[in-house]
Amino acid sequence: MSRPLDIQAIRGEFPILSRQVNGKPLIYFDNAASAQKPNAVLDAMSDQGRTAYANVHRGIHTLANETTEAYEAAREKIRGFINAGSTNEIVFTKGGTEAINLVAYGLAGEIEPGDEIVLSVMEHHSNIVAWHFLRERHGAVLKWVDVDETGALDMAALEAALTPKTKLVAITHMSNVLGTVTDAREIVRLAHAAGAEVLFDGCQAGVHLDVDVQAIECDYYVLTAHKIYGPTGIGALYGKAAALARLRPFQGGGEMIEVVEKDRVTYNEAPHKFEAGTPPILQAIGFGAALDWLGQFDKADVLAHEQALYERAYEAVRGVNGLTVHGTAPGKGPVLSFSIDGVHPHDVAQILDRYGVAVRAGHHCAQPLMTHLGVSATARASFGLYNTLDEVDGFIEALHKARGMLI
Ligand code: ALA
Repeated sequence: MSRPLDIQAIRGEFPILSRQVNGKPLIYFDNAASAQKPNAVLDAMSDQGRTAYANVHRGIHTLANETTEAYEAAREKIRGFINAGSTNEIVFTKGGTEAINLVAYGLAGEIEPGDEIVLSVMEHHSNIVAWHFLRERHGAVLKWVDVDETGALDMAALEAALTPKTKLVAITHMSNVLGTVTDAREIVRLAHAAGAEVLFDGCQAGVHLDVDVQAIECDYYVLTAHKIYGPTGIGALYGKAAALARLRPFQGGGEMIEVVEKDRVTYNEAPHKFEAGTPPILQAIGFGAALDWLGQFDKADVLAHEQALYERAYEAVRGVNGLTVHGTAPGKGPVLSFSIDGVHPHDVAQILDRYGVAVRAGHHCAQPLMTHLGVSATARASFGLYNTLDEVDGFIEALHKARGMLI
């Protein structure tokens, strides 16, 4: 049975949430940038470091074996989290960015000039720049799919963009700015019908949605731990076994090889062929602990709570004169991006900070989307499991004060 969603009890497990900022209780609404970590995660990493730490996959002594078991157990937790068929399809990376770069590098040898990669205008730079490398270095053509006025992906435009030259569709599962959730299954259906593979950037979706890569049938799915209440420096790439077997290894070094001689080298199998060098061992274990911690709760309960926070904030700001909310697509995730006429979002964020409210302001590493929206930046409040309706009210009160000072 799932653990009930007692938000006050949950907050008690996040030491940082009890601190003050500028003399006010912290209201942390920057979860889409990085979520806070519960004791369960902090303790898992420090306990492992204090009691059973060594390098993984290298030793035959007890500590090496214990650490390897814990590291591989974390891989199994990630497999279960997204319902991959096998742990061999889960590659540890240092985050979402590295996972996408790994795929781009791995595919580079297959790209002929004129081959097409389809992206949406709402991608994070991590899911844009790696593909620009293929454009600059291998002659790939990037094709862009727009979003409509609500921020929903234009599926007709996506379908029209697919041609026999399309090698890959690389699209977010949930926009970090608009909160738009894309129809992953339908995107895969369309792309596969055109003979293209599909990669989802799940860095935002992972913490909010119930992701099942086998049901989606995607070829690649990218996660990062620090947005799922886990540590920084660790993420994961899911790749179908056949895709990972095909991809060229990304980095060379220890543990990713089978045989190394003076004039030849052969590679280990996936996932190890993509994990050169000593991995971030404690972070991987922390990632697993975060998934265990989040897994205590019913995902639908968590999302309903987060949506309620979003709705409260949205209802409070939607009618405000001169304030625009960016992203209103049906079924969107709990992210409120907004701008206020004549006011720079940095100034809004700075004043909110004086009231203890942490939001992000800027282009959110999504410059093509900012261009599409006709703004240089937005302010963004993003909600997490431990946030409360009272905090939303505190944010709205502080926002009215900020507005009063700035316009
Ligand atoms: N990708 C993170 C964000 O949207 C950093 O804030």
